[in-house]
Amino acid sequence: MIRLFGILIGLGFTVVVLWALLWGAIEVGPVLAEHKQFTEPTAEHEYHREPKALHLSTDGPFGKWDLQQVQRGYQVYKEVCSACHGLKFVAMRDLAELGYSEAEVKAEAASWQVPGIDATTGEVNTRPGKPTDYFPSPYANDVAASSANGGKVPPDLSLMAKAREGGAAYVYSLLTGYREQPAELLREFPDAKSPPGTYYNPYFSALNIGMPPPLTDGRVTYADGTQASTDQMAKDVSAFLQWTAEPSLVKRHAVGWWWVGFLVFATILAWFSKKQVWVPIKPKRAKA
Ligand code: HEC
Repeated sequence: MIRLFGILIGLGFTVVVLWALLWGAIEVGPVLAEHKQFTEPTAEHEYHREPKALHLSTDGPFGKWDLQQVQRGYQVYKEVCSACHGLKFVAMRDLAELGYSEAEVKAEAASWQVPGIDATTGEVNTRPGKPTDYFPSPYANDVAASSANGGKVPPDLSLMAKAREGGAAYVYSLLTGYREQPAELLREFPDAKSPPGTYYNPYFSALNIGMPPPLTDGRVTYADGTQASTDQMAKDVSAFLQWTAEPSLVKRHAVGWWWVGFLVFATILAWFSKKQVWVPIKPKRAKA
């Protein structure tokens, strides 16, 4: 009798589950048909590429900043990217971490114009930066930024290397990824032609980016004699943006190693104290 009951309840459950499955399948059909991207291939899906590999000196648990490289990256940011992108979370005094002396940091800060207030009239103006200032944004607000860039706002770059999947490698790939739109893409997706004012870049998720290619060979002149190829500048500025996004990266690794050492030490200590505690309780094995 009890067995029959069990079988009936089991059957009841099975029917309910199958019923739910059937209705689910019926309902999901039209939803999929409405969202074509789930069923039909799109240009973004077919042609978007994952970031290229980028090797930086900070890679791995023993990585260290290559200060020469990060300084070169700062130069690229200053001479090229800062025309459109801000770095509002980075203070100029932080440049001291890149190996600049106090006098050099002061001179660097003074070479930037930051928003200020006229001491007599109270009007808004600009003044040379001080080490305590943050890097200024090139536009007064997003409306100005967007109207100067064909409707696209250049994002602040302070945390960009943390904000995008792939980090510094993404920035590097994006800067070196501009190319002609492949003919085969246009054949497959005739509607996907880059709209005016955008540039084809397969590392950008929308494939067409509103940023004109910012780097060309020899765009800056490096003081340390490094050849300023597009690839080199892209690597350097990516290293710099990795630093702005996580200045404490190397310190974090060092602290991690300190903790590993401490935990190993604590484990050994615990082992010996365990032995000590058990001495009176565990009789020594009698010798045969
Ligand atoms: C002429 C202005 C201009 C310059 C110079 C410029 N950018 Fe941009 N950048 C833009 C605009 C506009 C966008 C937004 C594009 C969009 O959303 O389609 C952008 C977007 C970006 C993005 C974000 C892409 C994303 O995933 O959203 C990164 C990273 C970037 N720029 C890095 C740089 C770096 C590094 C430099 C210097 C080597 C630089 N840009 C120079 C205008 C510029």
